[in-house]
Formats: sequence, structure tokens, C-alpha cells
Amino acid sequence: MPDSSSNTSYFLHSYGCQMNKLDSELVESRLVEHGFEPAPTEEAADVVLLNTCSVRQHAEDRVWSRLGRLRKRKRGQPELVVGVLGCMAQEHSRLLQARMPHVDLVVGPSAFGDIHEKIAEARCRNLAVRDADRGAGLVSVAGATARDIAADPDRIQRNVAVRPHPSQAYISVMRGCNMPCTYCIVPLTRGKEISRPIDAIHEEALRLVADGVTEITLLGQTVNAYGRDLGRDVNLSRLLRRLHEIESLRRLAFVTSHPNFLSVELAETIADLPRVSRYLHLPVQSGSDRVLRAMKRGYTVSRYLERVELLRERVPEIELQSDFIVGFPGETEEDFEQTVALMERLRFAQSFIFKYSPRPGTSAAELVDDVVDAEKARRNAVLLEVQGRHSAERHRELVGSVAEVLVEGWSKVAGRMTGRTMQHRLVHFPTADVSLIGRYVSVRITEGLAHSMLGELVENADAQATLMQGQV
Ligand code: SAH
Ligand code: SF4
Ligand code: F3S
Repeated sequence: MPDSSSNTSYFLHSYGCQMNKLDSELVESRLVEHGFEPAPTEEAADVVLLNTCSVRQHAEDRVWSRLGRLRKRKRGQPELVVGVLGCMAQEHSRLLQARMPHVDLVVGPSAFGDIHEKIAEARCRNLAVRDADRGAGLVSVAGATARDIAADPDRIQRNVAVRPHPSQAYISVMRGCNMPCTYCIVPLTRGKEISRPIDAIHEEALRLVADGVTEITLLGQTVNAYGRDLGRDVNLSRLLRRLHEIESLRRLAFVTSHPNFLSVELAETIADLPRVSRYLHLPVQSGSDRVLRAMKRGYTVSRYLERVELLRERVPEIELQSDFIVGFPGETEEDFEQTVALMERLRFAQSFIFKYSPRPGTSAAELVDDVVDAEKARRNAVLLEVQGRHSAERHRELVGSVAEVLVEGWSKVAGRMTGRTMQHRLVHFPTADVSLIGRYVSVRITEGLAHSMLGELVENADAQATLMQGQV
């Protein structure tokens, strides 16, 4: 292990989706393996990395302004290394070089296999610049080549010990996206869909489980389309069945699903496998056929309803989550009312609601962004209100019941911990016992709120499981 990087500290900011968060973990594992140390704060770090997102303008604005602040800092500290990774690096490599000359590295998604070398090189060069007191230049620009990793998944051998939670982990099962959604930048930043072989995923899962993981969430932009590039025998159902054989794995989830790939086989697989989580993130985006067509989502409202019916028939306890975009170009009040009606009809457990944000390079960006911002904000607030009402009603119905909760950590309120149920519901409960983090406990629900439930600890489910084994 080269130690030229020892004592060099880094701080990594992560934006965007879970896939980006997982990429950040992979980058960190790379850095730690090569002698870099995490810094407690950005200010204390020798290397500042931003793993970025381009999905909406707001996400990009946050990065531009942080880069602006780093530019000032670097004037007094020329040896500081600044790196931009992820989707903005892919999308804006030229703009970044032109607008932000203090950025040393621009590294697209999946191109971080040799990130430690690029950083070490930049560090050397910046130290020389500081000592010689002359201007620096960009050290490295690497485009995303998803194929690099997917074709050879072991190129980045994941260090399973580097992860934020003792018992939860993500596994990326595919990269990229082949869907034609007209508003979306992801296919441009992440490239074509590439699935990893089942054996490679299984091997990674075994290593995670051996290291204490009991809940795995499989990630893909259209995760239920998994395997279609690997031949007729490979699909998400097969993958779930294979992973479900791992005995000490207690929960297996997958996000995000696309309505077009929700098959009878998948619904039956979920029904058959008791340790597959009971929630499905199945974004509908809009309740208007006209808008869905303009978005090129590839389904109608009635087709979406059919799929949900099929799923709820096979797996009655499953909870649905959705994403919605309000204010898509041409969305009328009537279109919007249809979205509200669909929401009222389906009663999602949770929804993520976004104001449409034109992304340069997508085909929707050619359309006139004609819903004014105040109206987008109003529609956004209406959907939030409807969703909050549905969630609170459902949470109140559960008062008095006992749920199995995987404890994630401290809640924002002192003296409470937070965890999730098999249906991905958020539960807070009072305790001072830090050893519960990463364990499964039984919580009696005492109060239902809009975004979570409150409860009290009943007993330790792990202890109960041990007792039962002892009795057998
Ligand atoms: N692959 C997932 C989601 C990817 S992006 C899927 O297809 O469901 C996450 C969410 O961001 C999308 O579901 C969509 O609701 C939202 N989104 C994507 N592009 C957007 C844009 N240009 N403006 C506003 N919201 C957007
Ligand atoms: Fe974007 Fe559509 Fe792909 Fe989701 S399915 S990532 S919304 S293009
Ligand atoms: Fe954002 Fe890229 Fe994910 S655009 S949502 S970080 S795939």
C-alpha cells in the first residue's frame, strides 16, 4: 500500500441520489485504503471533494456556490486540492474548467477507480505551486465510462468495512438508464444501462453480511429492469431469490422501480420471499395522460393503476411510494387536478414532490417552461398537504400495533432513536441505549404524525429471536 498519501486528509460532500451516496462510499474506501484520512470538517481538510448531482438546477446551484467559497479559500491556501466528482463533472466538465479554475480534478461517475492517484498527483503539484508561488492548472479530467466498472466489477473491489452504518448497506446492481423520460438528465450523466452479473452481486452481499450487514438495498435507476442486458434468464426476481438464500440477511429491498417493468413474476416473488421489504418505490410522476405522454414515461394512468392493483392483490401489505413532478411544460390546472385525484385514489405511503426544473440537453428543455414559479410552488404545496394527510391517517391507524424496527441511530430530538419498519416507515422512540443501533427491536406505536410515528420500546427482538432458537 503506497503511503505517499498518509497524513493527507480529505472531506467529501455528497449530493443527489442513493447511487451517488454509494459512489461516495466507494471513493472513500479507495482513499482510506491508500492512506488518506478523513478530516473532521471541510476547513481542516487538505482535499475537498464534491460528489455532485445535476437532476435539478437547485442541486447544481448548491455546488456552484460551495465552489465559489472554495475559490476564496484557495487564494490563501494554494496547496488545497478541490475535486468535482459525479454527475456535474460529467455534464459540465468544460464549464467547470472555465468558471472554476481552482478545481484540480473533474471526475465523472464511475471514473473513480484511480482517484487516489489523481488526488496524490494534484496534491504534489499544488504543494510545488505554493512553494514556487505560481498559478496552478487543472490536473485531471476523466469522463464517466460506466463500462469500465460494469464490464469488470472487480476493478473496484469494494472495501465492505468502509460504510456508514453497521447493519445497513447499498449494492449497486446496475448503472445508467435507457429510458427516454424527456425531463431527465440522468441518462446523459450516467450513460447506458449496464447490469452487473448475479454472481458478482451475490459475492458482494456475502462479504457485507459476513461483516455484520443484515439489511441490503439494491440500487438501480430502473432496478426492476435489472438484467435485461444480460440475457433472457436474468432478472430482478432471480436476483432476489438468490440473495434471499443468505440466511443472516433479514431485509432485502430495492429501489427505484419503473411501472413498465412491474411484472407478475416480480409481484409473486415479493409475495414468496418474506424477508423482502414490504415497500415499493414506483414513481408515477403525474396523474394526467397528456403530461405522461409529453414526459415519454411509456404508460398511461390506467396502466399504472392496473399494475398497482396486480401488486396489491399479490402482496396486500405492500406500501407504495411515488415521485411527482409539478409544473411540467404545458401542465394545466386540469392536468394537475388529475394528479391530485390519482393521489387521493392510491394513498401512497410517501411521496417525493419536485417542481419541474428544465435541464439543458434534455428534450423537455426545448419546450417553454410556462408554469410560473409561484404556481409550481402552489402545486407543490398542495401535493405535500395531500400526502401529509394520507401519511398521518395511515400512521394513526397503526397506533397500538407493534412493529419490528431496525434501529438506525439518534433522532434529531435528544433522548430518542430512529429506525424503520419492513414497510420503510420511520419510527422514533425514547431510549438511552446506544447499543441498540443496528439491532432489531419491537416498538409499540403510540402516536402517528405526518412523516413518522412515535412509539415505545417493547422488548428486544434480537433477544427474543435468541430465546426462540434456544427453545428449539
Ligand atoms: N430513476 C428514478 C428517479 C430518478 S431522478 C425513476 O425513474 O423513477 C428522481 C426523481 O427526480 C424523478 O423520479 C423525478 O420525479 C425527479 N426529476 C427528475 N428530473 C427532474 C427535473 N428535470 N425536474 C424536476 N424533477 C425531476
Ligand atoms: Fe430519469 Fe426516467 Fe431514467 Fe428515471 S427512468 S432515471 S426519470 S430517464
Ligand atoms: Fe443526481 Fe446523478 Fe443521482 S443527476 S439524482 S446524482 S444519478
